[in-house]
Amino acid sequence: MKKAIYPGSFDPVTAGHLDIIKRAASFTDELVVAVLINENKRPFFSLEERIDILKKELCPFENVMVTYFKGLLVDFAKEQNVNTIIRGVRGNVDFEYEFQMAQTNKALSEELETVFMITDSKYSYISSSTVKEIASFGGDISRFVPYSVECRIWDKLRKEKKFKYQNRYQN
Ligand code: PNS
Repeated sequence: MKKAIYPGSFDPVTAGHLDIIKRAASFTDELVVAVLINENKRPFFSLEERIDILKKELCPFENVMVTYFKGLLVDFAKEQNVNTIIRGVRGNVDFEYEFQMAQTNKALSEELETVFMITDSKYSYISSSTVKEIASFGGDISRFVPYSVECRIWDKLRKEKKFKYQNRYQN
């Protein structure tokens, strides 16, 4: 029984994250997609919204479950009885950060293994932060996030009047 955790902030989940999840689900028996509760950051989407989005996007995948964690990833992994962590790597910059994180996690918990998955080149430049920035200027984010996320982003920006400029998406 191969169980793995795919942890992240998912604020919001992007097409790149979803691609990694789908691919990881194909070689794991159970994949736990775990959303970090980071009390030092004010997220764009609340924890509940991020979980709801992920659950809806991932409902076709029988072996994928969505949950959240707080504190250290190594502690969450122990609690879940899992010793495999999945992380997507888009390029050198990610690799530096991911390498350090994987080694830190290994130092904290010897049995924890981090499996790096190379992001599909179609998604290698996409990040949650750039999606939010493009959206805040009214740019087209339809290629970067699923449709449900796109709608929720526009709704939220309209409600919070967070558009930086007037644009074609604003009513
Ligand atoms: O999507 P992100 O923001 O790149 O995900 C980062 C995440 C959640 C995997 C990482 O910040 C994390 O595991 N945080 C939990 C705290 C922790 O365990 N820190 C020690 C490892 S550096």
